[in-house]
This record gives sequence, structure tokens and C-alpha cells, in this order.
Amino acid sequence: MTGPGPIPSPISRRRVLSGMGGGLAAFSAFTVLPPLARARGNIRDYRLKAAPATVPLVGTQGPATDVWAYNGGVPGPVIRAKRGERLRIHVENALPQPTTVHWHGIRLPVGMDGVPFLTQPPIKPGESFVYEFDVEDAGTFWYHPHFNSSEQVARGLSGPLIVDEDTPPDVDREILWVVDDWRLTEDAAIASFDRPFHDMVHGGRFGNTVTVNGRISEDLAVTPGERVRLRIVNVANARIFRLTFPGHRPWLAAIDGHAVPPRQFGEEDWLVIAPGARADLILDMTGEPGERFAVVDNSPEGIRYRLADLTYGAAPSAPAPARPAPVTWAANPLPEPDLGTATRLSLDMEGGAMGGLQTAMFMGEKLSGRDLARNHGMFWSFNGIVYPPMKYGHHGDPMFSFKRGESVVMTIRNKTAFAHPIHLHGHTFRVISRDGKPEPDRPWQDTVLLPIDGEAEIAFVADNPGDWMFHCHILEHQKSGMMGYVKVV
Ligand code: C2O
Ligand code: CU
Repeated sequence: MTGPGPIPSPISRRRVLSGMGGGLAAFSAFTVLPPLARARGNIRDYRLKAAPATVPLVGTQGPATDVWAYNGGVPGPVIRAKRGERLRIHVENALPQPTTVHWHGIRLPVGMDGVPFLTQPPIKPGESFVYEFDVEDAGTFWYHPHFNSSEQVARGLSGPLIVDEDTPPDVDREILWVVDDWRLTEDAAIASFDRPFHDMVHGGRFGNTVTVNGRISEDLAVTPGERVRLRIVNVANARIFRLTFPGHRPWLAAIDGHAVPPRQFGEEDWLVIAPGARADLILDMTGEPGERFAVVDNSPEGIRYRLADLTYGAAPSAPAPARPAPVTWAANPLPEPDLGTATRLSLDMEGGAMGGLQTAMFMGEKLSGRDLARNHGMFWSFNGIVYPPMKYGHHGDPMFSFKRGESVVMTIRNKTAFAHPIHLHGHTFRVISRDGKPEPDRPWQDTVLLPIDGEAEIAFVADNPGDWMFHCHILEHQKSGMMGYVKVV
């Protein structure tokens, strides 16, 4: 109950200097790697096979669900390394359609970023691709397809990627929750994808079944007095989780993998985790033996429902020592933007139901919102431009171009009637203000949630050369106009 299944041991832990280490001859049919700098650290090899599978999402009493999964499980296996190590992940596509894998939140060379038509050709059915990159930052990350994401992620393709700190925080144990939201039929089958417009124009493919580590109603057995690090990853297409922990006072200690000064929650405070985002909590199990507490999600429809139960076992024989409040752990080596000299830009988001587009540019033409909706199935714009989605096989011109090393401050304004989690690839930004007010601690994030009518300023150094996607992580919005890219040269 401490994670989504057994952690597969890396195939090889030995230091391997060239692309073909001992024991890897079986992979000679894989795509040839582009030249990369020699690994500085240990290499960890993993294999992911994306294929149809059947899993007991609603429990073994109910009908099983046909999904698409990595290595047969939902979520996919934990991919894990220490900071400074190199990951080499052999991906095999046994799906009935092309795919790619994106390593969400990882700063890596652009050729490894997994965006079809932008950073690599799609991996066709029956083909393979080897991703290889150093992990510079510790934290909680994840992986998912970037090809036809709204369907592939909804069908179950996603998994956690954890990079361990040099000195991890002092806790008794670690727990990983991959939270997801599924739209299921009464027979627990994945509901069809044949009427996507409603989802695109509203808040995305909202589900009716929430899972923790691929099962409904997780029971988490805990010991009175223990201190836990709880990593939460939201892999849902559209659902924003708003969690409360009745009876407990967790600290939020990392956002999107990056440490923040731990902030303690009140019993009624919401921990908001948008699609794509992660949170690391330090949670002291302050309940008594035999007690049971629900962890509650406060859904936007006003429904409060139980996500999981903390079930207290017997007291330990030696009582737990009193613990000081957790301290901030070491920062990742992120480049600090120079706010004085930064290039200042803004990004205005428009479209969707209850507002909608008047006109916008689409593939070089100015079109009415009605034409965009009816003839192209497009509903959203960034700065008046509706970005062509993946189905066009190209991504048009960049939204912005930056010189390598340039500091950027971007004001993002949500002029729509829906919240949008905006994600930048290949870089990590600071959120420096919200709605004109300085943001406490200026957290480092890769995904920032813009509430309805909200505004946020983000700042980063454009230091990673290449073309980097910048998009809404509500996957139905990504597909209908809210996905452009920035170029760093
Ligand atoms: Cu998590 Cu562009 O994606
Ligand atoms: Cu959106």
C-alpha cells in the first residue's frame, strides 16, 4: 500500500560508458541514440511497454477494465534514480496507434522530451525508442504519452518518476499516491471518446471514478506517531483535486518536485493539485490506535468524497519521539532569473464556453469563433492564436523565441470561465506573483494553475536550447488550441 506496486529493479546498475553496455545486446533493434554527452553518473535502465491490459480499477468484486498501460499496470512502474544519475528507458509501442513518452518536469535535452512532430517522430505500433537523459533535479515527476494525449492518458498511460535527493528528508517512510479520474460506464469500461466537443469547450474530460494508485477507495494502514512523506501526482485529464486531511495537519514541503519552506495546513485548508502537478507532504500520523480518517476531495460541484482512508493500527512498542517541524530540504540547481533585465511578455488565454472566441488566427487565417468551432473543432487561443493540435502533424510557428540564457517574466492572464494548469517543457519557472500580489516563497514549478479570471507572473531563464511545448494540461484544451511552443536558440 505504499506505492503503485513493486518497484522494478533497474536492469543494470553498473556504470556503462557507451550506448551498449553488457546485457543490453537484446536492445540492438532499438532506435539509435543521438550523440549525447557521456554519462556523469550511474545509468539506470528501464523498459516500458505500452500495450492494452486489463486491470481491476473498481476492485476485484466489480468488472475489470480494459485499459492501455505501461508494463500491464495502472499507473505504470515507478521509475527512480538519484539526482545526477542517468536514466535510459527503452520504450516499446504495442498499442494500436503511435505514441511517445514525455518526462513531465524533467529538464533534459530536447530530443528526449517526447513531443511528436516537434522533438521526435511518433513511435509507430511495433516500434521502439530509447530515451536517455541525466536527472539534474530531485523530486516527484511523472511520465505520460504526448501523442493523442487526451485519449492515451485517459486510457491509463502514465506513471511516476522519482528522483531522490542527495539527503532525503527525515521521515519514517514514504508513500506515493498517483491520483487519477476516469470516465467509466456502468460496466467499468472506459467511456467512449466519440463526443469530445463538450469536453473541449468546457473543463475537459471530467470523470466519475477517482482512483489512488489505480484502485478506488485505497485504505492506507498507518502507525500512530509515524512521520510520512506523501508524494501526490495528479495524472487526471481534467480533474483538479482539492484535498483536505481531517484530523491531520500536513505540511506542504515541495511543489512539482521542488522544495518550499514547509507550510502547515489547517484542517479545512485545501491542498490544490491541478492536472500535471505534484505535491510532497510531510504528514504526522497523530491519530490514536484503531481510528480511521478519510482523506477528502472537495470537488468543484460541491461534492465531498472520500479519496482514501488512513487506518490506524496498534501503537508501536516504543512511543514515537516528539518531532520538530520539518525543515526545507536542499534546493535543486535551477538558474535564477534576473528580474531586472528580464524580457517581459504576456500571454492572454481566451475561449471556451461562457465567453468564447470572437475571432482568432488559425494556421495563418483569421477565423470567427463559430467557424473555428464548427469547422475545425478548435475553441481556445493564446494571444489571439489558436495553435494547431497534433493531428496536423506540425505545430506552426513558435509563440515566442528566446536567446539562450535570456531571463523571461511572463504575465499569464486567464480571460476564460475555466481554470487552466499551464505547463512549460524543459524549464522550471518561479511563480513570482498572483493577481498582482507577490507570491510567498516564489515557488519553482513546471505547471501553474490559473483560476478563472486569475493572473500569474512566472519567471525563468530560457537556458535549454530547443523547441519546448507550452500548454494547458487539461488535455482536451491542449487539443483544441491551447498548446504552442517556445523556441530557445
Ligand atoms: Cu505533462 Cu506537455 O505535458
Ligand atoms: Cu485549459
